[in-house]
Amino acid sequence: MNSLSKFLVLFGNTTLLSKLEFESLYPTLSLTKLDEHLYSFESETDLSTEMMEVLGGTVKIFGVVKEFESNIADETLIEEIVALLLSQTDEPYFTFSQTGKGQREISNADIKDLIKENGKKARYFSGELSESALLSHKSKATELLSFNDKVSGKLILAQLRVVQDIDDWTKRDRNKPYADRKKGMLPPKVARMMVNIASGLWQQKNEAKPLLYDPFCGTGTVLLEAGMRDLDVYGSDIDQNAVFGSRDNLEWFKQEYGKQIESKVFYMDAGHLDLATFTSKVDLLVTEPFLGKQTPRDSELANVFKGLEKMYLGSFKSFTKVLSDGAVVAIVFPRVSTAKRTYSLDSLIDKLKTKGYNLVVDPVLYAREGARVARQICLFSFHSSIK
Ligand SMILES: C[S@@+](CC[C@H](N)C(=O)[O-])C[C@H]1O[C@@H](n2cnc3c(N)ncnc32)[C@H](O)[C@@H]1O
Repeated sequence: MNSLSKFLVLFGNTTLLSKLEFESLYPTLSLTKLDEHLYSFESETDLSTEMMEVLGGTVKIFGVVKEFESNIADETLIEEIVALLLSQTDEPYFTFSQTGKGQREISNADIKDLIKENGKKARYFSGELSESALLSHKSKATELLSFNDKVSGKLILAQLRVVQDIDDWTKRDRNKPYADRKKGMLPPKVARMMVNIASGLWQQKNEAKPLLYDPFCGTGTVLLEAGMRDLDVYGSDIDQNAVFGSRDNLEWFKQEYGKQIESKVFYMDAGHLDLATFTSKVDLLVTEPFLGKQTPRDSELANVFKGLEKMYLGSFKSFTKVLSDGAVVAIVFPRVSTAKRTYSLDSLIDKLKTKGYNLVVDPVLYAREGARVARQICLFSFHSSIK
């Protein structure tokens, strides 16, 4: 039997969503929380490279190198770090950071000094744990992390295995030919997490490759991220510009990434879907509908949400025409908080039950700093037998 290795995973700002994404795709790996963004898991094989290509919400994955008693002296820990660095290269280019409570008085300079005392050269860089992503991605420097685990009484020393390729994420966000920032585009990482959560949940019960559909496709962010996962995709929108734009974006994407996926984008009102346009039923419906005005006034909100509830309910009723039994729906619900109250579509969730949609996990909030309208990511499973 292979022995288990331990890994640390650093999630992005959307920790809950990132965690749900991880757990949906890797249900057999159990995550243990270390601090706000840092979790650990054990695995027989090193899946870190594959994971980083797939996951949208994971910033870094570290492999645990060694665990010490948490009362290890600072000097001993520095010696261990230096021994580790020099076992890998004669001229280390490194950074050492710490997270969590009980951090040590150990700096990069202390480590460099000891390397020099060993007659070797060394360089280091500094930065926040999450910010140094760009640096280490580019430089292939050695990045070490220590975490004082109060629960196990161990000090964990880990080395970076893989880091998110920020340039590639930015490329899909910024370089696609069609954009419409006025309508509000979904950040690609959030789109990817929604795709992964939906496909992960679906794959836990099915073997065949699912077909994904976004009935409010806009610029096609969801379609591109599903394409990155090699899924065949359908998209539609009520705006002809979005239809042509999404088609252009998909063609650009297929060329840029050499992807052979099937895609079809058409004009359609999400409230009046027509199954005849679909060659097969939809297994994953992943979408961000119209969320109302981006900066509504307080006095408008009651009416805005009344209108949205009607539109959402009509759309869900219409979705039933094209969904396969057991389909998974990942959808953004808008949420706005004022000084007086919060406006949401929570009341819709019970109504949807009677239409065959069951909430599978608690909705996860995704709020961009400064944005008036927050997004609540809701996951439903659909069963056509419930009428
Ligand atoms: C918030 S945008 C989606 C943005 C998309 N996620 C992206 O990243 O580009 C909502 C889209 O829904 C479309 N839309 C609004 N009402 C619709 C309806 N009844 N049927 C289909 N599309 C609709 C709008 O034209 C718009 O493109």
